[in-house]
Amino acid sequence: MALLNLIASRRVRLLALAAVATLLLMNSSLFSNGYRRQFEQEPPVYLPTTSHADVNMREVSSAAAAAVAASAGLHTLRDQLAYVFPYNAESMIPRSVWQTWKTSPSDPQFPANYKHCHKKWTSACKDAGYSYNMLTDSDAMALLESVYAETPLVIKAYKLLPTAILRADFFRYLILFARGGIYSDMDTRPLKALGKWSSVEEKYLAHIAELSTEAYIPYKDINRNRMPAKASVKEPGLVIGIEADPDRDDWDDWYARRIQFCQWTIQAKPGHPALRELILNITATTLHSVPGPLRDSDDNSNLFDTAHSDDYNVNRRAKRGSDPLYKHNEAKVKKNVDGTDIMNWTGPGIFSDIIFEYLTNTLQHNNDIVLLNTDLQTPTAQNEDLTKSIKRFYKTINAALQTSGTVAWEFFAFLRNPVLVDDVMVLPITSFSPGVGQMEAKGTDDPMAFVEHMFSGSWKDEADGNKPAENAPKVNGGIPPVPA
Ligand SMILES: *[C@@H]1O[C@H](CO)[C@@H](O)[C@H](O)[C@H]1NC(C)=O
Ligand SMILES: *[C@@H]1O[C@H](CO)[C@@H](O)[C@H](O)[C@H]1NC(C)=O
Repeated sequence: MALLNLIASRRVRLLALAAVATLLLMNSSLFSNGYRRQFEQEPPVYLPTTSHADVNMREVSSAAAAAVAASAGLHTLRDQLAYVFPYNAESMIPRSVWQTWKTSPSDPQFPANYKHCHKKWTSACKDAGYSYNMLTDSDAMALLESVYAETPLVIKAYKLLPTAILRADFFRYLILFARGGIYSDMDTRPLKALGKWSSVEEKYLAHIAELSTEAYIPYKDINRNRMPAKASVKEPGLVIGIEADPDRDDWDDWYARRIQFCQWTIQAKPGHPALRELILNITATTLHSVPGPLRDSDDNSNLFDTAHSDDYNVNRRAKRGSDPLYKHNEAKVKKNVDGTDIMNWTGPGIFSDIIFEYLTNTLQHNNDIVLLNTDLQTPTAQNEDLTKSIKRFYKTINAALQTSGTVAWEFFAFLRNPVLVDDVMVLPITSFSPGVGQMEAKGTDDPMAFVEHMFSGSWKDEADGNKPAENAPKVNGGIPPVPA
């Protein structure tokens, strides 16, 4: 009997495998042939810079699809990505978790102190009915090669990244953009049932939808009547947390940004346009900054926007950009990658920059953006400490929204509750950094605390093996000590 069962289940598995293989084959022959041909047409794929983008980033997906329909061809990587990974704002967030490490948990090389984290995630997934996907480095490579087969420049860039840390950063954006779900670093552990996250909890989403039009913040010259009467109960498309909100004069000794978003845990629907811009930025920067045929060719003008070539040069990021002694034209290889590169090429620095850039682009190009920040909008309580409240920044936030249609960093300061800008939900620092004992973060038992990060800093050791740049951050992505 047991043997029969075994045979039966093996057969089922084989059949399932065969079905998947057939589907994959059909897919690639039906879909790709014509498509790939289209990509290979002259002129070759162009890599626009995200900081000089004359497009409505939120609406690129449909525009790209229309361009294909009209057989105009897709000549920018932005359009290719939008076409291959369409974004459906109405869909639910995929119920899956992605993690990656060099080796598998059963390998003796797998760090003992991560085993506990791994167990926590697998059981949280099991309890919530989420799929759990743990990928080793070689699994990750194989998966990306198949998923991004239609956008070969992305794979090229991934392979050319000179260090494992840069690849680990890039991987999380790529997997979420292609598949969606939750990505979380191996040295994190979930603190709550996954269904309790504000991004998916029905009760919470219904509460947001219930808020009257009064709760939506007007921007530009758009009057309240044009704001949606009621948001529909819809899960957000991108869910991020605050990593740092250091309200202190010396904040820039410790952090790259006054408000920094964290990228050790991210939740997203596949195809989210903000992730697409990030992937475009990293791909373009990589192909321009590392040795290879694309960097070295005499004429790059059909690939890069030569009027803004500094945008592609990671040596031009941060203060060193204007340092006349810095070797700006030096190609990036393993031995000259430092903390500034990691931060501003693939890490939390560029992640935060692109999110802000995307939000601003979205506000400036669209007149139907839902802006919700209940911390800002609830009346001041009598005993409220305004020095630790977002209300301190009311004027700045309002001025930025009204006059230039930009979201100031202040919009995310001292958050206690999630805020929404269009379909991007930003969670308070407590959600992914509870218990750090500063920056107003609450404890791991707080209702808003979802994930705890153990700060192993393995990437930092690797980066510190190289001579740090003069202005390399003292604590990369870490939490500085509480000031005396
Ligand atoms: C990438 O993003 C950074 C930060 O916004 C920007 O300075 C840079 O110009 C962008 N580069 C490209 C190639 O998109
Ligand atoms: C990253 O770049 C920004 C400006 O683009 C700069 O303010 C910041 O210091 C840089 N961060 C690091 C870690 O170099």
